[in-house]
Amino acid sequence: MAQAGTLHDAFIDELRDTYDAEKQLTKALPKLAKSASSPELRAAFEAHLEETRGHVERLEEVFASLEEKVRGKHCDGIAGIIEEGKSIMEEDFDDATMDACLIAAGQRAEHYEMAAYGTLVAWAKAMGHDEAAELLEKTLDEEKAADEKLSMLAEEGINQEAADAAHPSDQEEEEEDEPAPASSKGRTGTAARRTASR
Ligand SMILES: [Fe+2]
Ligand SMILES: [Fe+2]
Repeated sequence: MAQAGTLHDAFIDELRDTYDAEKQLTKALPKLAKSASSPELRAAFEAHLEETRGHVERLEEVFASLEEKVRGKHCDGIAGIIEEGKSIMEEDFDDATMDACLIAAGQRAEHYEMAAYGTLVAWAKAMGHDEAAELLEKTLDEEKAADEKLSMLAEEGINQEAADAAHPSDQEEEEEDEPAPASSKGRTGTAARRTASR
């Protein structure tokens, strides 16, 4: 009779899934970077591509620490997220709107990874795989930081720029009601409003 799988088996399976997800992302991130108009957004995707290559290597270290062979298993979840990202890139949006959509696509991937690594860290700790837990936690922190960076880029300019293009008349009305210095427009404006509301 076949023995029932354990949490250790599920852990190894999840590691293989995540290893494949990271590899898929090393191919997808250059496309996101290439489609970005904002130089800051492009730089953020490129920087995270470098980190993602590090995540692949770090997972290889995790397999080694568990004396397991390095192996991937097709990750359908990230494949679906990447597929959705690709269809967004085929849309005909203005530059700021495309950037806002690329951020949305990127954040879906980051949240997927945060969920995967959150589980992996918790399982590694529960089973006493301390070295693996430590390595996985480093990656989890980088995924969180990448997600926060994307939020920051969206909230400190890109979303407002896209929104102003979507509703130009609203913006004019606002300006008529309340004459504001030129610097209150666009990126600086959003940042200034954020600071003022704190
Ligand atoms: Fe990653
Ligand atoms: Fe990531």
